[in-house]
Order: sequence, then C-alpha cells, then structure tokens
Amino acid sequence: MKAIILCAGKGTRLRPLTFTIAKHLIPIANKPVIYYSLEKIKSIGIDQVGLIVNNENINDFKNFLGDGEKFGLSIEYILQNEPKGLAHAVSIARDFIGNDDFLMYLGDNLILDDISKFVNEFRKEEELKASILLSPVKDPSRFGVAVVKGEKIVKVVEKPKDPISNLAIIGMYLFRSTIFEGIDNIKPSWRGELEITDAIGYLIEKGYNVKGHVVYGWWKDTGKPEDLIEANRKILDDNHFKLENKGIMDTLSDIQGRVYIGENSEIINSTIRGPVVIGANCVIKDSYIGPYTSIGDNVLVENCELENSILMDHVKLLNLPYPIDSSLIGKNVQIVNNERKPKAMKFVIGDMGKVEIVR
Ligand code: G1P
Repeated sequence: MKAIILCAGKGTRLRPLTFTIAKHLIPIANKPVIYYSLEKIKSIGIDQVGLIVNNENINDFKNFLGDGEKFGLSIEYILQNEPKGLAHAVSIARDFIGNDDFLMYLGDNLILDDISKFVNEFRKEEELKASILLSPVKDPSRFGVAVVKGEKIVKVVEKPKDPISNLAIIGMYLFRSTIFEGIDNIKPSWRGELEITDAIGYLIEKGYNVKGHVVYGWWKDTGKPEDLIEANRKILDDNHFKLENKGIMDTLSDIQGRVYIGENSEIINSTIRGPVVIGANCVIKDSYIGPYTSIGDNVLVENCELENSILMDHVKLLNLPYPIDSSLIGKNVQIVNNERKPKAMKFVIGDMGKVEIVR
C-alpha cells in the first residue's frame, strides 16, 4: 500500500502566514502539521509517499522533508499546479500509484485516532473498493457527507444544502485502483473542481462496496488560525512532547506542570505554567508563559504575559501592557512597547496582517 498526501492548497484563510510558508508546515507544539501525518502513515506500515504540492510550495516541502529518509519514508513530489480538485490530484498521481492500493490523506487534516483497524480491515477485505473515515459534525454543509446503512456507504454528497447526514468525510480515504474508473467518469462540480466525493459516488452507483468508518475522537481541518490554536492545545494536552529542561533557569523562576525547554534557552524571573513547549536559544525574562503555548527557536519574551498561543521562530515580544491570548505569531514578528512620546501606536504589518486591540 502507498500513500498520497494532498498539500497543493494555497492556504488563503491562513494569510499572511501562508505568503511565506505552506500551511502544512506551520508548527503545532513546535512540529510542522505534516509531521503528524507522516508519523501516522509510517505507523500503519506504509513507506512510499507521494506528496502532491504546487510550484510555489514544493521547495519549502523539499527543505523540510527531503526524500523522507529521516521519517523512514520514501517521499516523491508530484506537482499539481492548477487547483482543479481532489480527484484531479489523485489522477495526476496515477503513475506513482500504479496498481497499488493507497491511502489518501488531506495534508491539513489532523486525525489523532488510531487508524490501524481502519487500514487492516481494508487490507483484508478485498471486495471492499473504498473505505472512508467519517465523523459526526454540527455543520455538515461545509463538508462532503455520507449516508450509511450499517457500515456501508449508500450515498455521498459534497457540501449538501439539505442535511441528509451529519457524518462528514474527514480527509482520510482508502482506495484501490477502481477509484480511477470513478475519476474518469465525473465532471467538474459547481465550484469547478473534480470532486473525489463524486468519484466515490460513482463507485457506489455502480454497486461497488464502499465502507464508512466513524471516528469519535478529536480531529481538525487546520485551515484557520483558531483551528491551529485548538490543535496546539489538543496536542499539548495529549502529551505529544517530551518533558525536559535543556535550558538554564534562575532561582526566581518557577516551572509548573508539563513543560519542555530547548537547548540554551534562558528562563529569568519568570513563571512557565504548562503545558508549554519552548524551543532552543530563547530568552524568557520577567514574564508569564501560560498553558497551551508553543514557542519556537530564538524567541525573546520580556516583561509580557501570554497563553494559549503559537509563537514561531525569531519572535520578539517586549513590555506589552496587556496579556497575549489565542494568538498565532509568524516568524520574525516584533511586538514591542516603547516608552517614547508621542504615545501612539506604530505598525509595520504585511498584507492581510490582523491586529486586535482590546482596551
Ligand atoms: C474537502 C472535501 C470534502 C471533505 C473536506 C474535509 O473539502 O471535498 O468532501 O469533507 O475536504 O476537510 P474542501 O476542504 O475542499 O472544502
């Protein structure tokens, strides 16, 4: 069995961060989102991965993942330059897939449940032509949904206007090469895309056996800033990181709960209340770092309070008069409070930046 991970989306809802980094490479608990997907794929015994990327993000992925060796995987890069849909992405991976069965994973979806039962069942039950992870949701019209009878899927609809089912398709699919028959027989949808949901619908109409596997655990489509902050909270809560202090801490500082501190980081006169992950070469001085915070490498936080946030590498926060909460702060961002007059706010913010001030 092989795997394809779809990473060609532009991540428009995560701008401005995605002007400089693919959304799948944004860190959660200091690890890029896609690392969690690769680890999951490796855990179910797959080692050949096709990564569907676009010509703007391919080099970022290559820099982070290379040929996959560090994950024990072999990664092949496949270009999808036009956003023509998920089924189109599968069709351009046809040479990579060959006649193998494959797992298709939407690269920005984080699924923490154990998927080995889902995969092993598909490996065993040869008459099964597709198996899809489903999860009950409150807002089915945002997703592809499935109507099930027992374990069998009898109907699928992409973004239904009428709530025919609350079981959403959540971004992990198992296929045999039969799916190409479906893809060859569908037309673009109202949004101009070749929908994988329609290709699955074709298999169902033709009487092929398609199964739904419902997960009740936590999963998230990490498309928006608040999704990433929630995912960060979930991963830190679930203890997906080592508890270790490789840094230096003075006697005035206090570390409470589960905290990881990277090499050469200094904690001076500060309180860190976990779960918190702090990268290497950071300085945290006269500050409070509250629960559910992930801080990258080379970050300076001085005389500030923050919690429930993600700070990427090289961020500088200085003398802020109000606590920072639920924030996603990209690389090299500086937020500083100078005591200079005139007492005015001064911004240099890139396109689509967002500042929210509460007084
Ligand atoms: C895509 C699929 C949809 C699925 C969703 C999961 O939607 O078309 O069937 O439910 O991913 O995140 P999109 O993100 O393109 O709107």
